[in-house]
Amino acid sequence: MKTERKLSRAEFVRRYGGVYEHSPWVAEAAWERGGGGVGAGELRGLLASCVDSADDDAKLALICAHPDLAGRAAVRGELTADSAGEQASAGIDRCTPEEFERFRQLNDAYREKFGFPFVMAVRHSSRQQILAAFERRLRNEAPAEMRTALREIHEIARLRLEAMADVN
Ligand code: GUN
Repeated sequence: MKTERKLSRAEFVRRYGGVYEHSPWVAEAAWERGGGGVGAGELRGLLASCVDSADDDAKLALICAHPDLAGRAAVRGELTADSAGEQASAGIDRCTPEEFERFRQLNDAYREKFGFPFVMAVRHSSRQQILAAFERRLRNEAPAEMRTALREIHEIARLRLEAMADVN
């Protein structure tokens, strides 16, 4: 059986700091709770519990750390590698001009209504499915939509951890 060397705090945060978009505080909190000593199977739950036990301001900041889908950061090439890969796997980088315009309208309407960006784990969805979910979720009330955003963020994290296992 392969014996894993325990990661130092810096190595742990370097490795897992991007699992939650632009939010290395999640990995830092997980380290404080013994993250360096848990196996891959437990790590996802530990990271998620650090988000779930954070205060509402930190949760809102985590949601706001996500770039718009097909947004300005994407057009300017300023996405993290993870986000760029997720958006590309859903074909968002290949939108028609009409689809880009639809994303722009929906991103603006969503931010205007909720005060945070639309977040969806898009890796296994098509552009059409994403746009349909976008329109549906725009009709939700803010507290429910905040819970949905956090659930999607946990799913994004799960997929990122799963992808990392491939390159162990
Ligand atoms: N779903 C997967 N990655 C992302 C992202 O970076 N931003 C948003 N808004 N949704 C995502």
